[in-house]
Amino acid sequence: MTISGKTRVTGLFGYPVAHSLSPAMHNAAYRALGLDFVYVPFQVTPPNLPSAVCALRALDIAGVNVTVPHKETVIPYLDCLDQSALRCGAVNTIVNSHGTLTGYNTDGPGFTDALREEGLSASGLKAVVLGAGGTARAVVSQLLAEGAAQIIIINRTVEKALALAVALGAQDRVQVYGLGDKAPLAGAGLVVNTLSVPFRQEGGWLVDLSPAAGALFFDLRYGAMPPDFRHYARELESPSVDGLGMLLYQGARAFELFTGHKAPVDVMKKALQHGDGSFAS
Ligand code: ATR
Repeated sequence: MTISGKTRVTGLFGYPVAHSLSPAMHNAAYRALGLDFVYVPFQVTPPNLPSAVCALRALDIAGVNVTVPHKETVIPYLDCLDQSALRCGAVNTIVNSHGTLTGYNTDGPGFTDALREEGLSASGLKAVVLGAGGTARAVVSQLLAEGAAQIIIINRTVEKALALAVALGAQDRVQVYGLGDKAPLAGAGLVVNTLSVPFRQEGGWLVDLSPAAGALFFDLRYGAMPPDFRHYARELESPSVDGLGMLLYQGARAFELFTGHKAPVDVMKKALQHGDGSFAS
C-alpha cells in the first residue's frame, strides 16, 4: 500500500481498538479496488472524543467508524444524523463531507444483510433477542423496521428491556421477559445473542431456549468469547452462525459511505477470515 499526497484517510475511533478486524477488512477492500484510501485505528479515550471529532474536520479525514464506548456519546458532536442512527440512538459511521459530519448506523442493516445471507428475511419473522444493550437496540430496531411480526426480548434486567421497547415505540410487537421466565418461544425463526457474558454459567445454560429449537441461532459475538451459544444450538439441533457476517456487512455499508464505490464483499470476507489486510502485504 502506497501513501500518496492525495490519500484519503478513514479509520476507527474506539477504546480499545488494538483487537479490531476493521483495518484488515477495509484496507484489503481499498487495495482490491485500487482506491487511494487508507484505514487507520485511532485509540480515542472518552475524554479525548470531542477533540478527536474536531480533528476529523481539521485533518480532512474522509470518515471513521465508531465503536465501544463512543457510539452514543459521539452524537452531540455531529452536525446531522441519518435515519439509521436516529432509529437506534447510536452511530457507528461518520462521514465528513466538506466539514459537515453526518452520523450513520450500519450495524442494524449489516445484521439483516447477514441474516439474508442465511436465507432469512425479517418480514413477518418471530425473533428472540437476548440482551437489551446497544447491540440489542440496533438489532431490534432494524428487525422492526423491516417488518418483524413479533420480538421477544429476554434480559437479566427486565426494566431495561421494557425501556428499550418503549424507546422504540413498539410495545405492540415487542414483549419482554427475565432470564428465568417462561417466555413463549415456540415458532421463533431466529434467536439472537447479544449478551456480553458466556452463555454457559455454572448452573447450566443462561436461558432455556429449547422451545425455539429449529430456529437460526445467531451469536453476535466473535473472537475471544467462548462459542458456547453455538454449542447450545448444536445441542438443540439448530443451525447457528457467529457475528462475523454482521461485522462484514456493517463494514461493507460503511465502505460504500466512505468511498461511493460498491464494496468488494468477497475480498472483505476473506480479509476477516485470514487477516490478510495488513499494511505489510
Ligand atoms: P452492547 O452494547 O454490546 O449491547 P451492553 O450494553 O453492555 O453491551 O449490554 C450487555 C448485555 O449483557 C446486557 O443485556 C446485560 O444485561 P443487563 O441489562 O441486565 O445489564 C447483559 N449482561 C451483562 N452481564 C450479565 C450477566 N452477568 N448475566 C446476564 N446478563 C448480563
